Amino acid sequence: MRASVLGSVCALLLLLREPVCRGDEVTSSTVNPCCYFPCQHWGVCVRYGEDKYECDCTRTGFYGENCTVPEFWTRVSQFLKPGPNVVHYILTHFRWLWDIINYTFLRDILMRLVLTVRSNLIPTPPTFNSKYGYLSWESYYNLSYYTRLLPPVPEDCPTPIGVKGQSGLPDPELLVDTLLKRRTFRADPQGSNLMFAFFAQHFTHQFFKTFNRMGLGYTKALSHGVDAGHVYGDNLERQLQLRLHKDGKLKYQLIDGEMYPPSVAEASVRMSYPPGVPVHQQMAIGQEVFGLLPGLGMYATLWLREHNRVCDILKAEHPTWDDEQLFQTTRLIIIGETIRIVIEEYVQQLSGYLLQLKFDPTLLFNSHFQYGNRIALEFSQLYHWHPLMPDSFLINGDELSYTQFLFNTSVLTHYGVEKLVDAFSRQPAGQIGGGHNINAVVTK
Ligand code: HEM
Ligand SMILES: *[C@@H]1O[C@H](CO)[C@@H](O)[C@H](O)[C@H]1NC(C)=O
Ligand SMILES: *[C@@H]1O[C@H](CO)[C@@H](O)[C@H](O)[C@H]1NC(C)=O
Ligand SMILES: *[C@@H]1O[C@H](CO)[C@@H](O)[C@H](O)[C@H]1NC(C)=O
Ligand SMILES: *[C@@H]1O[C@H](CO)[C@@H](O)[C@H](O)[C@H]1NC(C)=O
Repeated sequence: MRASVLGSVCALLLLLREPVCRGDEVTSSTVNPCCYFPCQHWGVCVRYGEDKYECDCTRTGFYGENCTVPEFWTRVSQFLKPGPNVVHYILTHFRWLWDIINYTFLRDILMRLVLTVRSNLIPTPPTFNSKYGYLSWESYYNLSYYTRLLPPVPEDCPTPIGVKGQSGLPDPELLVDTLLKRRTFRADPQGSNLMFAFFAQHFTHQFFKTFNRMGLGYTKALSHGVDAGHVYGDNLERQLQLRLHKDGKLKYQLIDGEMYPPSVAEASVRMSYPPGVPVHQQMAIGQEVFGLLPGLGMYATLWLREHNRVCDILKAEHPTWDDEQLFQTTRLIIIGETIRIVIEEYVQQLSGYLLQLKFDPTLLFNSHFQYGNRIALEFSQLYHWHPLMPDSFLINGDELSYTQFLFNTSVLTHYGVEKLVDAFSRQPAGQIGGGHNINAVVTK
């Protein structure tokens, strides 16, 4: 019993990816002063001697022992700048105003502002990772790590979160029961549906590919961004397996005359299925976990069809292009289409803004903009939008339980893309925030 409780605590620690699963290691009697997290406003805690620290407040806009005293210009901007709540209120009210702005040059100016202000919130070059709580070349250069906005809690702190709380973490099952598990389904107040939920999961799993076997805080998605690796695979070998090597296209199979991803028998890539699923029933998809849910298989099918459709158009217009050029150009187009849908439909829905968002790369051509990207561990943690999932799936008059839905390779081909799109568009998703809204199956 004790062993299993310890085991599950360690499992939670793995979830939190904190290097705290380590037993009683605190040898010195002086507590590392940085365990108190004294430095405010993104000041950096630097340890001197055994028991002293200094906060490096450089460019935080604050000074003082703990970076708590605002500089003059910080005071001025605190006074003049509307808070995030005010900005959000304006962006989600005054429809008449936005109806005008949507049609003028102000839309471009505000969209540019949204992009630059948001990107300035992110530290570049990236800072910490799960191994390095201080700046280092290694954490900058080694893309196998997610970056981290917050440094890991120092290894020698008395408690897992520094100095507060108990010396060990609680039983994860208790945590899930008290905070997360759904009592009764609460729908998303913004009216999001399952089409949105599966899009969220499908889209983000191109850059959230936590590599637990490698260790804490590692990722398999080495390009750290929107590269459509969930369609083409995260490495060249997988991509070559998935490609038809003709006209730039991807391999496919026809079922009832409709195009679907090929089976693993036809494109030999590793997919995660429970043991015993035969290869001809496994679908070969860029992302190895997308056999989990028919909703993910549906999006994979849509993008496969779109890729091959674009190839046909390009080939008709450029009969001299070879397979490689047709493939590479189509991939860029698929990435562009993805970002457009993400900004103009997905983020639009998520934000609730009345400003009509716009995907237009030229908006940034004349401003200094950091195009490099690094996925943060916190981003993955916060994107566990598992409450979006319903208690069962309503498709074409049938009600499918999780047992019938998960890893069921025939749901997609049985109903077909059209019926699934229709079903997922009608069924409400759950509310993400507020706690107590994750179906028991998804908390496992
Ligand atoms: C029935 C549906 C789902 C099941 C069974 C499921 C299950 C899981 C499991 C077992 C993990 C790995 C453990 C963990 O990191 O927590 C995971 C990770 C994750 N899930 Fe889900 N999930 C579902 C739907 C969703 C949806 C709709 C989203 C929406 C965004 C989502 C977002 C994530 C993210 C961001 C991760 C971390 C991935 C990584 O870092 O590699 N999941 N999910
Ligand atoms: C700075 O933080 C430390 C630790 O939390 C605290 O003891 C100290 O009083 C703070 N100093 C100031 C000037 O607030
Ligand atoms: C990144 O770090 C891991 C773990 O320390 C190591 O195995 C890998 O070789 C490193 N990669 C590079 C490119 O340095
Ligand atoms: C402006 O854009 C928002 C968000 O897309 C939309 O709700 C609103 O109807 C638009 N107004 C006009 C006139 O296009
Ligand atoms: C898989 O889905 C099909 C089609 O919806 C359904 O008939 C079947 O019962 C499901 N299989 C399992 C094992 O639940």
